Amino acid sequence: MTDQQIGLFDALYTQRAIRSLKPDPVPEALLHRMVEAATKAPSGGNSQPWAFIVVRDMATIAKIAEYAKRGFAPVYEAALGRMKPGDPPPFPRLKPLVESFERVPAIVFPAWVRPANAQPGAGGASLYPATQNLLLAARGLGLGAAMTSIALGFQKELKELLGVPEHVELMATIPVGYPNKERYGKTTRKPAHEVTHWDRWGNQHPAPAGG
Ligand SMILES: Cc1cc2nc3c(=O)[nH]c(=O)nc-3n(C[C@H](O)[C@H](O)[C@H](O)COP(=O)(O)O)c2cc1C
Repeated sequence: MTDQQIGLFDALYTQRAIRSLKPDPVPEALLHRMVEAATKAPSGGNSQPWAFIVVRDMATIAKIAEYAKRGFAPVYEAALGRMKPGDPPPFPRLKPLVESFERVPAIVFPAWVRPANAQPGAGGASLYPATQNLLLAARGLGLGAAMTSIALGFQKELKELLGVPEHVELMATIPVGYPNKERYGKTTRKPAHEVTHWDRWGNQHPAPAGG
């Protein structure tokens, strides 16, 4: 397998949510590579409390898609209800993804393997760095992916469907495939100098010239 030659900062600056995916299968080696990158992330005390459920079985994805649609419908209705005249329709990129979720070729669920002494629901801090590595690896491999919470409201049902034990929590739903109508590129983010406070809150500097 050959990795794409993309610089670290190119990857960091152009990684974004890709929600429009081709249905073409993604080779297992690439999905493995994404998970391997995820496993290089830091975790509290190097506890590595993670597991990654990679779903490619189309019948299983079809069932996940049902939960995706059921979970999204009330959110969409509520957003429609909040619309003011002239507003564009809500979720213009998420809606087509949910509507075609059964055609997503792979879904990765980063999961928190809860230690015996931990409270349920507290695992994000140990899973999100790994998840970002996963997304960056997708970018480097030319695959589209997005961090989402799609269908996670059906945690119990998803765990049953995927045979996930009680002490393991699904933390994100990451559809993966080759990009279709969207491309990686410039993202819309607050400039770093606007969110940086030097030595104490409120002491902000302009962006360095040429930085
Ligand atoms: C904690 C978290 C939860 C997210 N949940 C969703 C989600 O449920 N659905 C979705 O389409 N995108 C989700 N996203 C992706 C963000 O919407 C996206 O990263 C952000 O809008 C920036 O867009 P861009 O990556 O296209 O620049 C989530 C991102 C994070 C970090």
